[in-house]
Amino acid sequence: MDAKAPATNGPATGGPLTQRPQWQALLQHAQATRDRTLRDWFADDPKRGTRLVAEGAGLYLDYSRQRVGDDTLALLFDLAHACALPARIQAMFTGQHVNVTEDRAALHVALRMPAGTRLEVDGTDVVSEVQAVLSRMSGFADRVRDGRWTGATGQRIRNVINIGIGGSDLGPVMAYEALRHYSQRDLTLRFVSNVDPTDFIEATRDLDPAQTLFIVCSKTFTTQETLTNARAARDWCTAALGEGAIARHFVAVSTNAEGVRDFGIDTDNMFGFWDWVGGRYSMDSAIGLSTMVAIGPAHFGDMLAGFHAMDVHFRGTPLERNLPVLMGLLGVWNNDFLGAATVAVLPYAQYLKRFPAYLQQLTMESNGKHVTRDGSRCDYQTGPIYWGEPGTNGQHSFYQLIHQGTRIVPCDFIGFCQPLNPLDRQHDLLMANLFAQGEALAFGKSLQQVQDEGTPERLAPHRVFDGNRPSSTILVDRLTPHALGALVALYEHSVYVQGAIWDIDSFDQWGVELGKQLARRTEAEIASAQAPSLQHDSSTNALITRYRAHRRRK
Ligand code: F6P
Repeated sequence: MDAKAPATNGPATGGPLTQRPQWQALLQHAQATRDRTLRDWFADDPKRGTRLVAEGAGLYLDYSRQRVGDDTLALLFDLAHACALPARIQAMFTGQHVNVTEDRAALHVALRMPAGTRLEVDGTDVVSEVQAVLSRMSGFADRVRDGRWTGATGQRIRNVINIGIGGSDLGPVMAYEALRHYSQRDLTLRFVSNVDPTDFIEATRDLDPAQTLFIVCSKTFTTQETLTNARAARDWCTAALGEGAIARHFVAVSTNAEGVRDFGIDTDNMFGFWDWVGGRYSMDSAIGLSTMVAIGPAHFGDMLAGFHAMDVHFRGTPLERNLPVLMGLLGVWNNDFLGAATVAVLPYAQYLKRFPAYLQQLTMESNGKHVTRDGSRCDYQTGPIYWGEPGTNGQHSFYQLIHQGTRIVPCDFIGFCQPLNPLDRQHDLLMANLFAQGEALAFGKSLQQVQDEGTPERLAPHRVFDGNRPSSTILVDRLTPHALGALVALYEHSVYVQGAIWDIDSFDQWGVELGKQLARRTEAEIASAQAPSLQHDSSTNALITRYRAHRRRK
């Protein structure tokens, strides 16, 4: 495969997206079906709840409660074809430079290709490189888990601290929490990301340096927060154990061997990956080392198999039955034609408590873009805001707005049929709540129903639920490493589908740069011994001045 080949063009070849006949048809359709409700759709088609579903890689997707008819879906598939979605999918899988602004492939799918398969980029088989790193990771993880890898004083490692931020943190911490059930319980895993010193201090305050291993994760090994925390960790460790301890207490995961060496970590203790793995798509690369240490190489392999199963489904299944395609297109419909600005992700699984936070980077860093791949301004909405909390907790917090507020908030419910921690009938209760929420959102409660219940007239409007609020439900048998891999890959690919429709680069993140630059300048002004000559706007100048006057160093 010629990795230099340009990405297949989508809307760029057919004129601006919003001028395309397929987009215009959807606009007209949205207008024409404005008054159709989920009650109507379900009444017209008694089989809707079993017809508007799709399955793949062990996941069951019910999208019957989205505000779409067969005609809507047909128009969405027309749009997908007009945007060359099938070609865009193949472009990603074959290593074309779909990350156009950084002129790179986005080949996270290669991270989970089975051993023995091949994918060549620039004449190199990347699968064998991936497998070589996985094998080194497995050897290391096994030694930490069984006690052969000891600290500098010969003591067993009991604590593993991952230092990283963004994609070098959110994937590892989410996966650790999600798969905690499968983790080795005599190992304590912690995650330090924030440059706020509290994060590091609280993570280490009750730990013995002699039993603590740091995994410093940074694709670039230049990230300010990570290097600052890694230096704090080095000082904490060497103050107790001496300089010589670094080799036993620090390993690095990075693409930047020189940076790792400069920091003082031997590159023999470094696990590499490649520039074609985006940070937010890296939890199944060596960035997942903490996950592998926690759950073991075999479970990590199951997780990769789950990712791969969804990759195979995405690449080979017709658009009409393709889970990431369906989820992506329904998201475009809600975002651009029904005017929904956010998506609530509601896992009914306590183990998935960090899943919404993980998805925030995956979705919003990928699709929070204001220009198309060729730099033209988007005159339509791109990535929506993702947020969420596990059920049932959210029900007692923000669900009020989802049920009766004035905005549409499409919801993704995620649930599992089998409990990992059976306790009386609590799992059934959990799932009853999930099913009830989707039903209540879709069908609501009419004024007539409220009145029939004998509600006083003055209270009746307050007790009405309009319904017609869209949601999808993802149902999985059990939260296994395989299921987690498939679930993450489902969202990764649905993000790509949406990026292809919006014709944006889902793999760059220029929007994080300006803040970083300004922070560097401001840091120097804050540190300066003399009062700095501040040249910002009057607000920033006043805030810095007040901070300098009021701060206490201790
Ligand atoms: O600032 C954003 C970002 O570049 C993310 O895309 C990335 O996941 C994170 O910073 C961390 O980067 P690194 O792994 O290079 O430290």
